[in-house]
Amino acid sequence: MYVLLFLILISQGIHCLQCHQDERSTLLQLKSSFTISTSTDFYDYDDQYYKSTWPPETDSWDENTNCCTAWSGVTCDNASWHVIKLDLSCSSRILGTLSSNNSLVFLNHLQRLDLSRNDFRGSPTSSKFGQFKNMTHLFLFESNFSGLVPLEISNLSNLISFELSSYEFRATAEMKAATFKAIVQNRKSPKQLLLASVYMSNVPPSLMMNFSSSSLESLDLSFCFCKKIITCKYVQYIRLQPFITKYFTNNVSKIIML
Ligand SMILES: *[C@@H]1O[C@H](CO)[C@@H](O)[C@H](O)[C@H]1NC(C)=O
Ligand SMILES: *[C@@H]1O[C@H](CO)[C@@H](O)[C@H](O)[C@H]1NC(C)=O
Ligand SMILES: *[C@@H]1O[C@H](CO)[C@@H](O)[C@H](O)[C@H]1NC(C)=O
Ligand SMILES: *[C@@H]1O[C@H](CO)[C@@H](O)[C@H](O)[C@H]1NC(C)=O
Ligand SMILES: *[C@@H]1O[C@H](CO)[C@@H](O)[C@H](O)[C@H]1NC(C)=O
Ligand SMILES: *[C@@H]1O[C@H](CO)[C@@H](O)[C@H](O)[C@H]1NC(C)=O
Ligand SMILES: *[C@@H]1O[C@H](CO)[C@@H](O)[C@H](O)[C@H]1NC(C)=O
Repeated sequence: MYVLLFLILISQGIHCLQCHQDERSTLLQLKSSFTISTSTDFYDYDDQYYKSTWPPETDSWDENTNCCTAWSGVTCDNASWHVIKLDLSCSSRILGTLSSNNSLVFLNHLQRLDLSRNDFRGSPTSSKFGQFKNMTHLFLFESNFSGLVPLEISNLSNLISFELSSYEFRATAEMKAATFKAIVQNRKSPKQLLLASVYMSNVPPSLMMNFSSSSLESLDLSFCFCKKIITCKYVQYIRLQPFITKYFTNNVSKIIML
C-alpha cells in the first residue's frame, strides 16, 4: 500500500519535472516550420557585427528530452514548469513565415519572447502577440516582420519593452495613431519603445506629447516619417534619425523632427 503510494508520488513528481506536453509539441511544430540560413555573419545598420548562434538553438530540441531542462533557448518556471521565456534571437537566422494564427499562443505563460535578428520573410506582426497576459519583453527587431502593428499589442498590460526596429531605409511595418495612443496611454505603459523604420507618419505630434505622462524612458523613432515637433518630457534616450542619438539626463521639452 505504502509502496504503491510512494510509486504514485514518484511518478507524479517525475511528471511535474517534465515540460507540458502541449507546449513541447507547440515548440516542435514551430521548429519544423522554419529553415535555418547557412550565412551566419551579418552587420546591422550601426555596422555592428553579429555572429549567429551555431549550432542553432533548435538543434537541441529533441522530442525525447525534457524541453524545460535540455532545450536551448527555452526557460520554464521552476514551480509550474510552463515555458516562460523563449529566446531564438539570432538563432542562426531562422528563415520562414510566421502565420497570423501561429501556434506560439499555446505558450500562453510566456513573459519574454525574443525572435530578433531572424528573417520571418515579411510575416505580419500577429495580433496573437497581444494575448500573453504576463508578457514583459517582446523583441521582434531586425526580423523582417511587416504590416500593421496590431492594436492588440496594447493589451499587453505588463509590457516593459517592445522592440520592432528594423534599421532598413524603407519602412515595412506601420503603426496607426490609435495603436500608438493605446500603447502609450496604457495604465502601465512600456519603458522602452524601439520602433526604428516603423512607418508612423499618421501619428500626430500631439500624441507624442503624451509621453510626458507616461513611464517611457527610451524611444527610437528613426526613419519613422513622423512630423514636426514632439515634446517628450521624461524620455531619457531618444533617437530620431540615424546617428542623431541623445541621452538626456534632464527633462526634455522640445525636439524638432528632421
Ligand atoms: C527558481 O529558481 C531560481 C534559482 O534557483 C530562484 O532564484 C527562483 O526564486 C525560483 N523561482 C521559483 C518561482 O521558484
Ligand atoms: C493556420 O491557418 C491555416 C489556413 O487557414 C491552416 O492551414 C493552419 O493549419 C493554421 N495553423 C495553425 C497553427 O492553426
Ligand atoms: C501571470 O502571473 C501571475 C502572477 O505571477 C500568475 O498568478 C498567473 O498564473 C500568470 N498567468 C499566466 C498565464 O502565466
Ligand atoms: C524580407 O522578406 C521579403 C519577403 O520574403 C524578402 O524579399 C526580403 O529580402 C526580406 N528582407 C530582409 C532584410 O531579409
Ligand atoms: C485586445 O484588444 C482588442 C482590440 O483593442 C480588444 O477588442 C480585445 O477585447 C482585447 N482582448 C483582451 C483579452 O483584452
Ligand atoms: C493626452 O492625455 C491627456 C490626459 O490623459 C488627454 O486628456 C488628452 O486627450 C491626450 N491627448 C491626445 C492627443 O490623445
Ligand atoms: C522632470 O521634471 C519633473 C518636474 O518638472 C520632475 O519631477 C522630474 O523628476 C524630472 N525628471 C528628470 C528625469 O529630471
